[in-house]
Amino acid sequence: MGSESLKRKELWKRQAFWSGAWRDAVSGKTIRVIDPATEEILGTVPSLGKIETLEAIETSKKAFVDWSSRPAKERSLLIRNWSDLMQKNREDLAVLMTLEQGKPLNEARGEIDYASSFLEWFAEEGKRTYGDIVPSHRTDSKIEVLKQPVGVCGILTPWNFPSSMITRKAGAALAAGCTVISKPSELTPFSALALVALAREAGIPDGVFQVLTGYPEEIANVLIDHPDVKKISFTGSTRVGKSIMERSSKTLKRLSLELGGNAPFLIFDDADLEAAVKGATLSKFRNAGQTCVCANRFLIQSGIYEDFIRSFSEAVSKLRVGNGFDPDVTIGPLINEAAVAKMELHVEDALHNGGELILGGKRVQERKLFFSPTLISNASKNSLSFREEIFGPIASVYRFESLEEGIRLANSTPSGLAAYAYTNDYKKIRILSERIESGILGINEGLISSEQVPFGGIKESGFGREGSKYGIQEYLQVKYVCIGGF
Ligand code: SIN
Repeated sequence: MGSESLKRKELWKRQAFWSGAWRDAVSGKTIRVIDPATEEILGTVPSLGKIETLEAIETSKKAFVDWSSRPAKERSLLIRNWSDLMQKNREDLAVLMTLEQGKPLNEARGEIDYASSFLEWFAEEGKRTYGDIVPSHRTDSKIEVLKQPVGVCGILTPWNFPSSMITRKAGAALAAGCTVISKPSELTPFSALALVALAREAGIPDGVFQVLTGYPEEIANVLIDHPDVKKISFTGSTRVGKSIMERSSKTLKRLSLELGGNAPFLIFDDADLEAAVKGATLSKFRNAGQTCVCANRFLIQSGIYEDFIRSFSEAVSKLRVGNGFDPDVTIGPLINEAAVAKMELHVEDALHNGGELILGGKRVQERKLFFSPTLISNASKNSLSFREEIFGPIASVYRFESLEEGIRLANSTPSGLAAYAYTNDYKKIRILSERIESGILGINEGLISSEQVPFGGIKESGFGREGSKYGIQEYLQVKYVCIGGF
């Protein structure tokens, strides 16, 4: 499967787009993009740096003047066109994604739907960025509160969701009246470049949405340091999020940071076992376990522990690993060698810490970046997989006795992105809703993502919300106006 399978081959761009043109790097340098399933080179994209990033910022700043002053409805129509074009080109976009990211084609189609839904949603939300009129404290003045776009935004996105992490940010920013410079992961740039091609077809002016390809430090640092970039939105690791926050302090930028998780998945004795196993499988193995909201620690109450292990291992053993273009495949390759090495380390560490290997635990034979879905029980809570985000297809199962112990274990992490709990007890649901420390909580539900919900974390999983009515507020600032002389 390759470019020949695209209906519109022109969507597969090998150049970046900024300052009104598709261009190569001034230095002539390129980055190779690899298909993780075959490890063949798919093509190259420009490796851009400071010169190109400064040009893009200048263009974005100029474009902001016109874009921010257009009526919200006009912006809305163009963003909606963009969403519709994503749907029209769904299959091509999904193929490109599977090629460069590896996820099964059906999952890639799902991601295109998810990605275009953010544009559709924010096209509407942009019309509702209401301010306030406040009763004045004096008879001779009027008080207004305006919501205004923050300005030029830099959005830094990861490889695990090559399209939806861009539209979740850019949709909100553009609808609010901001202009955007997108820096996608160097591992998955083709999806981002196809998005800018469609944005242009949709009628979004050239300087409003630009995509710079290259290594993070060469581009992101220029965006972060520049006083004309007013906001950075980043999805990625907590380590990088902290360094962005530190670096941004020099220009005191607005930030949204959607960082790593360590999601607990609690199952109580009274849970519906079948539903819990279904939710566990979805939550753990979506995108081969490479999502920030994947279940990371399965905490199972003693009374249901053995039954859960039996049913879960049955479900996991049905998963099929392979090239994402094979229609029977449910788990694609991991993104690169480092990701596979990390899985090997986690397995070795869990077994060293008393864990029992029930399924998997190694690369799928002779295929370098494919790792078998793995189930480990009874590892110590000191093991790496308990303490750190796994980001791969390893499910590690631990036992707990009481509600109090379950909550204590769930919260015993600096992360606070997603959490899950399965119980049929109304009182437990209320208690968990209040006491679990996470920005997102799925109760009797393993799949929590949608454009309508506020996605984001607390604690060291970052701050800011994406999607929903809250997402657009991240790109607006509040101005209080006092009009005197009445
Ligand atoms: C992520 O892994 O950061 C995003 C997952 C999602 O939106 O569901």
